[in-house]
Amino acid sequence: MTLKVVPASQFSLDELTEAYNQTRMDYIVPMPMTAARLREYIEAYDIDLDHSCAVLDSEEPDLIYGIGMLGVRDDRTWITRMGVLPYARRLGTGSKIMSWLIEHTRMIGVSQLWLEVIQGNEPAKRLFEKCGFKLTRELIVSRRPPGQKMAKEPTLAIVDVKPLKFEAMLNYLAHRKDRPNWLNETETFYNLKKLSGFLMKLNDGSEGWVIYEPSAMQLKRVLVEVLSGEEARVTEAILYWVHQKLPILDAVSENIPIYDQRWIGYEAAGYFDSFHRLEMVKDMRHG
Ligand SMILES: CC(C)(COP(=O)(O)OP(=O)(O)OC[C@H]1O[C@@H](n2cnc3c(N)ncnc32)[C@H](O)[C@@H]1OP(=O)(O)O)[C@@H](O)C(=O)NCCC(=O)NCCS
Repeated sequence: MTLKVVPASQFSLDELTEAYNQTRMDYIVPMPMTAARLREYIEAYDIDLDHSCAVLDSEEPDLIYGIGMLGVRDDRTWITRMGVLPYARRLGTGSKIMSWLIEHTRMIGVSQLWLEVIQGNEPAKRLFEKCGFKLTRELIVSRRPPGQKMAKEPTLAIVDVKPLKFEAMLNYLAHRKDRPNWLNETETFYNLKKLSGFLMKLNDGSEGWVIYEPSAMQLKRVLVEVLSGEEARVTEAILYWVHQKLPILDAVSENIPIYDQRWIGYEAAGYFDSFHRLEMVKDMRHG
């Protein structure tokens, strides 16, 4: 077969969703998509479909063998949604997708190309290492089921809560101490339509904020930043406050680095570790 790589923008969202789901049939963590969810994903993470690609067999142009998408932000790009049909693997399709996305990153002219791979996905990790990606951090994807009880009351209490307007939330997000992963970058929150955020003071004088994306069933992207005070205890108290207010909602927080002290606070507030991702980067200034 002769494989050719074309821009993903040649296909409808329905076709891309179908292709994505087919390539992920046997995936390590099942994450099926609908066209509506893919549209939200594209908007939230600044995916550029002209710089994303699909691989076709020239003799069977309706069948997508593999896809890969590219997020584009200021000085960096990000590879996501990449996959090859299970029966078409080990034939060089994944490498062709990577070459296209790396080449397009070069054309755009940014200095770094990022991605994440689920821990334990050795085929993908090897492919990325072969393409020059280096491991940066291990990240935790966590969840808190609805109605989860806290093991004990937090040692700190919230004494003042101020709701944040959208502009203030973006300002706080832009001034975080640590570099967030692509999913949690300020640009993502800028792209979201609905956000809630609160600035809080605690009884020992410490301060922090929480920002999340609420929906009918779930709080997504639950992010805490500690402005002053002890990371774990302040995080725990803030999350305790959130989940007392909204006890019946499921909650998800993605891509907290494993060494981050705030994770201890998330765990104390009833979050559990679902799986890990490895964050990797390719420096585009040096080959
Ligand atoms: C990862 C994936 C895209 C690779 O696609 P592919 O078409 O099989 O890749 P290629 O044939 O171009 O292989 C390129 C290199 O990847 C690595 N690789 C691919 N499959 C591998 C496997 N099963 N075991 C070990 N290494 C593997 C090898 O280094 C290989 O080079 P080699 O053949 O010279 O040894 C494919 O396995 C896939 O779609 N997996 C499910 C979805 C997924 O994991 N996506 C990535 C999410 S981050």
